[in-house]
Amino acid sequence: MLDDYQQVVEAIKTLKVRGAPAIGIVAAYGMAMAVCKFEKYDKRFIDVVAEKFYSSRPTAVNLFLAVDRMKTKLFSETPQNIESAAKLMWHEASSIHNEDQQMCESIGKNGAELISVGDTILTHCNTGALATGGIGTALGVIYTCRDQGKKNRIFAGETRPVLQGARLTAWELKQEGIPVTLICDNMAGMIMKQGRINHVIVGADRIAANGDTANKIGTYPLAVLAIHHNIPFYVAAPSTSFDNSIKTGAEIKIEERPASEITNGFGNVIAPEDIEVYSPAFDITPRELISFFITENGILPGGRS
Ligand code: MRU
Repeated sequence: MLDDYQQVVEAIKTLKVRGAPAIGIVAAYGMAMAVCKFEKYDKRFIDVVAEKFYSSRPTAVNLFLAVDRMKTKLFSETPQNIESAAKLMWHEASSIHNEDQQMCESIGKNGAELISVGDTILTHCNTGALATGGIGTALGVIYTCRDQGKKNRIFAGETRPVLQGARLTAWELKQEGIPVTLICDNMAGMIMKQGRINHVIVGADRIAANGDTANKIGTYPLAVLAIHHNIPFYVAAPSTSFDNSIKTGAEIKIEERPASEITNGFGNVIAPEDIEVYSPAFDITPRELISFFITENGILPGGRS
């Protein structure tokens, strides 16, 4: 239970809340929490709070968009007292939340049109209800296919180093009764070569104006493998993950995570002490490796379509 905006910032930093849409939504509620604790109405304090959220995680654009939207709301409406400022902020945060839920539904419906009965889908990281305000993006497509009776099988990559695929996606799909097979990330090529994958669907943390896409580390190699094996590769994402202010993926800031997540992730020491580690949390998949973008507004062509 979090009752202070600083705890919310910490929850985002430490991945207690993660997934691009979810961190945007939670940051918006965190901004509302900060306003509730105002002693007097102070615009400068809101800038300080916003900065704390901006610096919590750098890659997912949804967080920046949500925080900016909260600030704009507050500054444009000039509420008369703290109570009405707090009301305004809670209302805006829950609008962001509800809109994300709606976007997930539409992404699910649009994406399901690309999937046939019995197809097998490979996904990476976690893009479901634990990463969004609704049914999810890539997983939203999978849930919608299930609701349509398509009987698909899912392969979930475990997603090193912190295992969002194993801990979250495999769990979510199992809860929903969807057939899921967990694989280590480095098994994807073999399974594609065996002809067992019909589609790859992933989410996104930030999509540049040219379509280059930042998503969880390990996404780019899947896109390279998919093109080699002639398997369509889809990015499922809401409009809040598109960042038209940057031209290409080269401008996306990639978060680096602590070495301990690799060397000592879940309590077991698995590497020599003081070993040098490089741990980017995301990679960039160039547009030319992406078949289609699945958005709430429809299917958009990537560079492979
Ligand atoms: O580091 P995480 O767990 O926040 O990374 C999450 C991802 O990369 C997801 O694939 C992405 O945010 C899309 S969530 C709908």
